[in-house]
Amino acid sequence: MKGLSALDAAGVQAARIEDLWWIFFWVCAAVFVLVIGSLLAAVFRRRNRSDDDVRPGGERRMARVVAGATALSAVILLGLLVVSVATGSAVGSPSPAGALKLEVIGHQWWWEVRYDDPVPSRSFTTANEIHIPVGRPVHIVTRSSDVIHSFWVPNLHGKRDLIPGHPSEIWLRADRPGVWRGQCAEFCGHQHANMGLEVVAESPEQFQAWTAAQLRPAPPPRTPLARRGQEVFLSLPCPTCHTVAGTPAGGKTAPDLSHLASRRTLAAGTLPNTRGHLGGWILDPQNVKPGNKMPPIAMESEDLLALLEYLETLR
Ligand code: CUA
Repeated sequence: MKGLSALDAAGVQAARIEDLWWIFFWVCAAVFVLVIGSLLAAVFRRRNRSDDDVRPGGERRMARVVAGATALSAVILLGLLVVSVATGSAVGSPSPAGALKLEVIGHQWWWEVRYDDPVPSRSFTTANEIHIPVGRPVHIVTRSSDVIHSFWVPNLHGKRDLIPGHPSEIWLRADRPGVWRGQCAEFCGHQHANMGLEVVAESPEQFQAWTAAQLRPAPPPRTPLARRGQEVFLSLPCPTCHTVAGTPAGGKTAPDLSHLASRRTLAAGTLPNTRGHLGGWILDPQNVKPGNKMPPIAMESEDLLALLEYLETLR
């Protein structure tokens, strides 16, 4: 399952926001029906009566109706304000104890995701795909490395702007498993629309298994073709920007590729992670996502095949 809807809450925080949305919707719908109903009633009543029909005291009655309607409007608005503030303080509450801690950093135009552990050897970094265990609160520190982005996974929480130099914190909890799409929600340049991510909410066991796999360094390539691919990778400019754990590639300005093949998408949720898309992306990333920071890389087709073979071993 894959969602991008604030009206299909998959967790406690999104449910609060969804409830608020529905309260506003039904109150506003009732007010709309009331206003239009009164308007139509007034129009038809006036049509069916002549001038000498006006009852004595009509004006005083009208003043009372207007005062009543004004008071009702004030009460309704005050009520909406109260539920809105209550929802805001509930979603902004401190994260519950025992929360999983992670850091999400916005870059033009991708998401860096750090799973920090007090034990450094249990910390790791990934990109554009966040795995979380169902039922456990997740405390997220958000940062930006360049311009203002906005972290938004509507099925799990509201939007949180990522302001450069001003880290902020949110927490969320997925209450059912699923793959929830996220999207940068603040215009951040040319490829803002292609700054997506996915949150994979899975059982605690699946999450443990995923974490264990992420913590392992990339396996050394086994086949001659994959070994050739690793040589190609290390001889091209790739390691300047990308990291592959366990190899000399340690660049930090682009997504960590240590477990690239385990991810569902490429280029921040822009392409499905298949061999064809990966090849096309490496050869001409500017065609897929114009303006992004990855340069086109020319290479012989045998080298590309070897490189793809190698990258697919990064599970
Ligand atoms: Cu990042 Cu829009």
